[in-house]
Amino acid sequence: MKIAMIGTGYVGLVSGACFADFGHQVTCVDKDEAKIDALRRGEIPIFEPGLDALVASNVKAGRLDFATELTTAVGEADAVFIAVGTPSRRGDGHADLSYVHAAAREIAGALKGFTVVVTKSTVPVGTGDEVELLIREANPSADVVVASNPEFLREGAAIRDFKFPDRIVVGTDDERGRKVLGEIYRPLSLNAAPLMYTARRTAELIKYAANAFLATKITFINEIADLAEKVGADVQEVARGIGMDNRIGPKFLHAGPGFGGSCFPKDTRALVKIALDHDVPLRIVEAVLAVNDNRKRAMARKVSHALGGHIRGKTVAVLGLTFKPDTDDMREAPSIPLVTGLLDMGAKVRAFDPVGMEQARAELPDITYCDDAYACVEGADALVIVTEWVQFRALDLGRLKAAMKQPVVIDLRNIYRPEQMAAHGFVYESVGRGT
Ligand code: UGA
Repeated sequence: MKIAMIGTGYVGLVSGACFADFGHQVTCVDKDEAKIDALRRGEIPIFEPGLDALVASNVKAGRLDFATELTTAVGEADAVFIAVGTPSRRGDGHADLSYVHAAAREIAGALKGFTVVVTKSTVPVGTGDEVELLIREANPSADVVVASNPEFLREGAAIRDFKFPDRIVVGTDDERGRKVLGEIYRPLSLNAAPLMYTARRTAELIKYAANAFLATKITFINEIADLAEKVGADVQEVARGIGMDNRIGPKFLHAGPGFGGSCFPKDTRALVKIALDHDVPLRIVEAVLAVNDNRKRAMARKVSHALGGHIRGKTVAVLGLTFKPDTDDMREAPSIPLVTGLLDMGAKVRAFDPVGMEQARAELPDITYCDDAYACVEGADALVIVTEWVQFRALDLGRLKAAMKQPVVIDLRNIYRPEQMAAHGFVYESVGRGT
């Protein structure tokens, strides 16, 4: 199959490279010339484990190329995927669809022969209808089917998630469209990934509902963690205990500083807006958003509390800045409100992140960036672990303590055991472990 992938962000680049790896012929298109030039040189604009090798091998095999202009690729394609950004619109929280609409208009003019246009970007319900309308307006004779095929990959595990998905959702009632997408995903049937065919609007809602449900699970366990601290229970055990019930499931029950990233905050906000527009307020999702926002801000107070409320003039070391490990993504990272809160309270902040420091500088210019974890804690009154990078999981605790001014550790990801930290003489606080 010939595929044109419009947009080389996370979803576009990973999907394009994986489709090429399945054996399809893929052209990834992006208007950003610098980005396309870099990709042609083999430089990957994002940090995603394994992506550089996957891109390189498929470029070498002649199955993957890059373009700044979509005409040729779209004209030749069996399927054109729209994977451009849908950021939160400034001011109102709705998804900004201007990139999707612009892509649809441009694609319309380049279509030749039967083509399936597929929205992969996360888009509000009804966007497929709008994309189809725009294409038919611009090119009334186009032989086109517009389908929705939401993506469920996670940053940091994107290639594995793409190649071993729990399911693939294909949203179109059109048989020809289903056939083309079935063929594109056929290699995944080897991994026993179920292909679920639905109507287009249903597929669009599945994506938002999935992200909102996962965000709800996290927020639920975070609130239980707060209660566990007060009543003397251990939230990790609670999560394990409820997760063993198949109806609940063990995943996404890890308590922490609140969810961040480029998807959950933006998508839950957009879902709340979509629902209000249809007079069906989603009170649970609204609460999830509010609770999560408050939680991220509250983390600075948790640090202050661990220092007996006296934080002005103190030095706080922060390990991990990105919203999760194995990514350089700082979007809506819990570290941002945390560090900002610490600075507002008069603390000095030193920080280290294995790959995210360049991105972090733009968000957090007024802190000291350090070369590694041990340099970061030098002279610190407290250490806060914000992102659970693997390299923070087995720090030399003796060395850490010796470098710090006060042995206070606030572990917002529960990567250490309280007994172990106490044995090393640390004052240790974590999340939801009140026992
Ligand atoms: C999320 C979804 O997991 C993907 O299925 C989806 O495709 C993607 O959004 C998207 O819509 O594009 P992602 O944001 O990359 O993926 O990362 P997650 O691993 O889901 O983590 C999101 C946030 O939740 C992080 O801040 C993470 O630390 C937090 N989290 C996750 C928890 O606090 N506890 C958990 O148990 C799990």
